[in-house]
Amino acid sequence: MISEDVKAFAADFEERLPGLLPPVDDQAVILDESMRYSLLAGGKRLRPMLMAAAFEAYSGRDWHEDRLAPFYMAALEMIHTYSLVHDDLPAMDDDDMRRGQRTNHIVFGEDMAILAGDALLNGAFELMSSALRTAAGNGHTQEAVRGVFAMDKIALYAGGQGMIAGQVIDVTQRATKLSRIIRMYEDKTGALLAAAIVGGAVLGGAPEEDCDILQKAALNTGLAFQIQDDILDIAGDEVLTGKPVGSDDKSDKLTYVSMVGLEQAETDAARYTAEAIKGLESLSKDLTIVQAIIRGLIGRQA
Ligand code: IPE
Ligand code: IPE
Ligand code: MG
Ligand code: MG
Ligand code: MG
Repeated sequence: MISEDVKAFAADFEERLPGLLPPVDDQAVILDESMRYSLLAGGKRLRPMLMAAAFEAYSGRDWHEDRLAPFYMAALEMIHTYSLVHDDLPAMDDDDMRRGQRTNHIVFGEDMAILAGDALLNGAFELMSSALRTAAGNGHTQEAVRGVFAMDKIALYAGGQGMIAGQVIDVTQRATKLSRIIRMYEDKTGALLAAAIVGGAVLGGAPEEDCDILQKAALNTGLAFQIQDDILDIAGDEVLTGKPVGSDDKSDKLTYVSMVGLEQAETDAARYTAEAIKGLESLSKDLTIVQAIIRGLIGRQA
């Protein structure tokens, strides 16, 4: 079973990640460099960790030994990383630091950062589909079917009804009411956490009737996570977060914190976290590890 030691998980995943990436044409070596630069720069690896924990809760099996799970976890981190590379571009948040190093477009240029983001997103689906092809080809039909259902969830949460929709609301700044900000956060941050939790659970064999509860918990976790991100944008330590303080202020972003104040935001983040943890209790499977990961995000400084 997954270790409760988050650091051990991250180190383990880190070791496997470089070997899981799909190859790039040898005429496009710079693309591979640019992709690896952002993907292998560290980060908390929260989404793969949640995915592994949800997968193990439903399958009763260790993620290391599964023929699909490691590929799905890497794919999710690739999708997340592409979203960060594009989020930092001058046309979006225009930031120059990410994961403790200069942002992709500062090092490789805007053209290559856009292409690296594109290739990370596409590569994520290459990883999942080639693992599925192998599983199906070797007669592991039931696992392959679960893999297709999980990939369907991941695609949905990452796309125009999920994360990208949230980014659209963010850049167009249509969110002037708290309810709109909440919706934006559920989309831009919660949806990818839902890809992790719901996707991992479905890969492990979760029935469709559990998905709504898992999704709700993921969206509450996303709200708490993004509120804390906003708090760190004001009061964080750049050495710990690896990205600039004051990015939201620089772009005049309306955030949950700017709307309700720091103290109320902290209270609300704690409440959303508690709701997420409680929601998971109603499921038939034991999601203790998922709950522990969510609890560990309270007051995070990185
Ligand atoms: C940053 O995500 C983007 C948000 C959704 C707030 P993380 O805080 O998980 O970033 P990494 O992966 O650790 O770099
Ligand atoms: C979340 O919002 C970004 C994504 C969904 C990619 P932010 O713009 O606040 O994330 P950071 O602070 O740059 O990591
Ligand atoms: Mg942004
Ligand atoms: Mg940003
Ligand atoms: Mg932020």
